[in-house]
Amino acid sequence: MPLFHDDAISKLKDDHDKVEAIFKQLKDATPAQTRKLGVQVANLIKIHMALEEEYLYPALRKVPEGEDDKLTEGLVEHDTGKLLINDVLSPKTDKDSFAAKLQVLGEQMTHHHKEEEERGGVFAQARKSDLDLVAMLKKMAAREKDLKAELKDGDLPISEMNFAEPAKSEA
Ligand SMILES: [Fe+2]
Ligand SMILES: [Fe+2]
Repeated sequence: MPLFHDDAISKLKDDHDKVEAIFKQLKDATPAQTRKLGVQVANLIKIHMALEEEYLYPALRKVPEGEDDKLTEGLVEHDTGKLLINDVLSPKTDKDSFAAKLQVLGEQMTHHHKEEEERGGVFAQARKSDLDLVAMLKKMAAREKDLKAELKDGDLPISEMNFAEPAKSEA
């Protein structure tokens, strides 16, 4: 299978750009478009986070270039994103706050992407290491294909948190 990207990092950066482009479109969207784009971007982020959490982050934990603090911070940011994503994708979501939730998600994602892409961020750490990022891209491409097929058949499973525990209701 020909690979469109040079390596796992260029693929992940490309995902960031796609996500940011949708959030830009959402700024002037009608309610019907907001619904459609919102679900689309939430699933895109969900798949992107799964690829990072299954391949990039664990690989970086094992090499000297990977900084534990940065990796943990990144995963905590994923959790805050997932709380909103799970809400946006829930059939029980409050329709009045849907657009606002997406806006906050967009702001959080922009911040998170900046941190991953900045000097010394996890992407730079990966590029500095001797991790095989082409092999990683191949694994990501295969996994992404499976996740997209799963999505076509229905919903992806609810995103699991890395650290956050959803508050338990007393009732
Ligand atoms: Fe991330
Ligand atoms: Fe990312």
